[in-house]
Parts: sequence; structure tokens; C-alpha cells
Amino acid sequence: MEIIRVPRIMHDTSMKFCMTGRTIGFVPTMGALHEGHLSLVRRAKYENDVAVVSIFVNPIQFGPSEDFEKYPRDIEGDTEKLKKEEADIIFMPEISSLYPDGFLTHIEAEKISEKLCGAFRPGHFRGVATVVTKLLNIARPTRAYFGLKDFQQYVIIRKLVKDLNMDIDIVGCPTVREQDGLAMSSRNAYLDRVQREAAPVIYRCLTEASELIKSGIINAQYIKELMHERLLKEPAVSVIDYAGVYEPETFDELSEIKGDTLLAVAVRIGGTRLIDNMLVESRENPDLNSGNIKNKVSQKKEI
Ligand code: PAF
Repeated sequence: MEIIRVPRIMHDTSMKFCMTGRTIGFVPTMGALHEGHLSLVRRAKYENDVAVVSIFVNPIQFGPSEDFEKYPRDIEGDTEKLKKEEADIIFMPEISSLYPDGFLTHIEAEKISEKLCGAFRPGHFRGVATVVTKLLNIARPTRAYFGLKDFQQYVIIRKLVKDLNMDIDIVGCPTVREQDGLAMSSRNAYLDRVQREAAPVIYRCLTEASELIKSGIINAQYIKELMHERLLKEPAVSVIDYAGVYEPETFDELSEIKGDTLLAVAVRIGGTRLIDNMLVESRENPDLNSGNIKNKVSQKKEI
């Protein structure tokens, strides 16, 4: 396994792979790797000749009062895990090599970046879209892998790749959960014992809402109210940023459930902001009903 820190070297290495006809699977991360990340690495390895993983805690996607400084970092542990997974390359750029003095250009998928998490974290998705565009330009992958836990991020990246004519397949991969249903996240490390025990309420709330939709309830406002009630019953939930029923491409709030539906939640437990979501597939689409979201979330190239 090779560790590359310089963007030019990463770019040239990838170009050599491309020129010899090898496919590159790319997994962008901010490190502090858990099973969720490793599942992406395994898939990247399985579907490509070469697996490249980037580790970069991207300062421009954190707000001024957010956790950039204290975001968990574990380069040694991450390197060990990636060696075990037989990743081929770790790309670990310095902040100054991605954002040198005089850096002025940003990428923003309008409208969809302002909804849900975007409304509570101004500039967050602009930071994500900018760094992901840069990383894709450097790593030149055939396919790039993203966890569906960050569903809005996945949709935004899929959109930017399409809008900017980038010849890359964006692959959305299922959320990996702890045994009690809590979605794996590097931020789970911030939770104390009581908070950790309370956190699966998010998954239970999503599961109950999805069962109601599957049972035929189409009143989205009713489901939203039940979700809020469920979350607020848990004393450890201090704030609900949002919890409700949304259209999965535009993130508009729904009043009536008609087709595919996104249930999404962002809450604070103590000082920790946790997000999770569930895609409830339309009854009219048998492929989606079978739980086979793979085809839906793996974007076909449209250049
Ligand atoms: O999901 C993440 O870890 C980050 O937002 C990403 C995609 C690596 C960009 O910094």
C-alpha cells in the first residue's frame, strides 16, 4: 500500500493506471475510519482494479463554531485498517496543497444545498462539493463510493458530476449500522454512555415512520408529527434540527406521500449532531420494493 501526499503525484499515478486500462475505485473520507468506510473500500476493491482512499479533514466544510479542530483523527489506526483491507493507495494531502494562498474557486449545487443539513450548516455543502470536485480531478477515478447515511451529500455529488460533465460513476452504498441500529459515524465517538444508549432512538423513529408509510399512510404531516413526538420522548435529544418526510431528489417537504420518499432526521444529543435517513420506496416500483436500492443509487454516466 502506497501513501501519497502530493496532489500532482496522486494525479500522475492515477493517469498511469488509466493509460494501462485499469479501473480506479475511489473512497473519499475524513479518516477516523469505521466499518461504514471499510464497506466502501471493500466495494471499491471488488469493483475496480485499484482502490484509492483519501483521508482529508476538509476545513472549508466546517462552520466557524463547528468541530473541525476536535474532529477525530487517527492516521495510524486508519493506515492499519486500510492495509488489512488491501487498499492500494492512501491519498493524504496537506491543507496547504489543496487550498494554497490565493485559492478562490468554489463549487455549489444550488437549491438542494440549502435544504435539510444545508439550512443548519450554511456553506457546508459548498465546502463538500468543492473538495470532492478537487479530489475527483486529482484521483481520476472510474467510480467513487459514498455512504447513503449522508444521503443529501450523495445526491449533491451525483448532481455536480452530471452538471460538470465528469465521466465518473457515483455509487451510493448502504448505511452500516451498529447492532442496535445506530448508523455508524465518526462523530459517535463524541457520545458518552448515556447519550450512546439514547442514540438508537433515531433509527427506531425512522423504522416506525417507514412502517407507517408501507402500511399505506399517505399523510406526511401526520408521520412528521409522530417522528417529532418519538424523538422528543427521549430526554437525551436536546434539539431536533429536522425530522420529516421529503422528496428524495429536491428535498422538498412532502404533504402527501406518492412515490419514493426520504425520511430524514438530524438531532443533537448533548453537543453532538447526528443524522440518519431511510429511503422508502414506492409500491409502484417492484425493483425498489424489493429493497434493491443499488440500481437506483448507482448513477449511470450521462456526459
Ligand atoms: O463524507 C465525508 O466524509 C466528507 O464529507 C467527504 C465526502 C470526504 C468530503 O470531505
